[in-house]
Amino acid sequence: MGFGVYIHWPFCLSKCPYCDFYKEVKKNVPQEEIIAEYKHELDFYYQYTSENIVSSIFFGGGTPSLMKPENVAALIDYIASKWKTVPDIEISLEANPNSDYPEMFADLRRAGINRLSLGVQALNDADLRFLGRTHNLKQAYQAIDGVLQNFDNHSLDLIYARPQQKLSDWEKELAQAASFGMKHLSLYQLTIEEGTVFARKGIKALDEDAAREMYLFTEDYLADKKIYKYEVSNYARSGYASRHNLLYWTGQDYIGVGPSAHGRFCFSGFKGNLEQKPRDRKISRTSLYAENFSPLVSTLSSTLKPEKTCLEGEPEQEPRDWKISRTSLYAENFSPLVSTLSSTLKPEKRCLEGEPEQEPRNRKYYASTYNCQLEELSQAERAEELLLMGLRLAEGIDKKLFAENCGLDFDGFVDRERLKYLSDAGVLIDTPQNIRATREGFLVLNEIIEQLCP
Ligand SMILES: C[S@@+](CC[C@H](N)C(=O)[O-])C[C@H]1O[C@@H](n2cnc3c(N)ncnc32)[C@H](O)[C@@H]1O
Ligand code: SF4
Repeated sequence: MGFGVYIHWPFCLSKCPYCDFYKEVKKNVPQEEIIAEYKHELDFYYQYTSENIVSSIFFGGGTPSLMKPENVAALIDYIASKWKTVPDIEISLEANPNSDYPEMFADLRRAGINRLSLGVQALNDADLRFLGRTHNLKQAYQAIDGVLQNFDNHSLDLIYARPQQKLSDWEKELAQAASFGMKHLSLYQLTIEEGTVFARKGIKALDEDAAREMYLFTEDYLADKKIYKYEVSNYARSGYASRHNLLYWTGQDYIGVGPSAHGRFCFSGFKGNLEQKPRDRKISRTSLYAENFSPLVSTLSSTLKPEKTCLEGEPEQEPRDWKISRTSLYAENFSPLVSTLSSTLKPEKRCLEGEPEQEPRNRKYYASTYNCQLEELSQAERAEELLLMGLRLAEGIDKKLFAENCGLDFDGFVDRERLKYLSDAGVLIDTPQNIRATREGFLVLNEIIEQLCP
């Protein structure tokens, strides 16, 4: 099984008008002080996970390419000095193409980054301006060159389904994106998030039929180029799915360090008080964590209540009339959150090595949230997460692994009648071993998840 470390670097040069990720615009960031704090957080999590072997590290943001490469290296080295690491560890960093520092990619490579994810977002100047990006197309091309020269494993982020964007515009942009030779593409439909500048300005997302057409086109076009959709918004050449993000989507263990970061890990054997904090934290640091933070557990419990309007008795809508949910196409704040299910979720390896093997029902899973808070997850909470994350994957959920992972039987956990209804409607493929969304199902994924959870 894998074990990942997510590091959140929350600082940006400016706030993009669509973005509601946790970030701060701040000059003169005291990087060394923050790195020292992050090391304390790592120390805290090490108490519970010291036997795990780190398979991936992910620097996400915010804009982690604003970190000095020596600070990136210091954190990588610190992690490697504490935990064992797998020989082919994946170490990713999200970079923006707005750097005026030409050696940045070479220095990041030297610092230990071996997978670079570049946030280009659009491939024309007008849309880059519309998205409030601080880079232009020329800088995007230079950055793409820099990434290709320095890394073998790379990813490009684009936001599409922009207002006014036509399918023919997107076709050209997508063709260009596919032509760079990047190993991975993260393609998100623009969502207008509450509280953002776009929301305040009343900017509307592209109409849903057009967005749907673009989504299906994207999948087909890229498959033709041997770049396959493996998650709702993520596409990769064979062997280049993001191993770190797969941890989230397949229910494996990870810890998160930095403001707004969270973790999920299995732990047994600690006899102390799990609510304790590692040490007193400075108020200024705590404030970094407060804004924009919503722990997954509470998000899940508030968002996954089954809608009683549909599928109770007589369905009110036929599935073909369901609206395409834009949010189902976008990874909500789970840059970090998610194959290979069958190969990665072996139950006997879920717990700390060296610990006696435990029955799934005796295993304890913890959610970690900001400021090193730990909370035990119930089996039902764990099951909801596995469902929510697993259905995002093209290969869906292996029911046996689901049961081994949370201790609940999949078919007993979900609402069977609704499951049958959804399968009959052609949005889910349900077999005794596996459940997954169909091509049409991906267009209504949020609705499917809402319906399935009891
Ligand atoms: C939080 S950003 C961090 C990466 C980096 N700072 C950047 O700007 O490229 C992660 C990704 O989320 C996506 N994203 C953020 N807000 C979005 C929105 N409202 N709609 C669609 N995609 C969004 C963007 O594609 C972005 O690359
Ligand atoms: S999209 Fe990236 S650069 Fe823009 S505000 Fe969000 S995290 Fe910062």
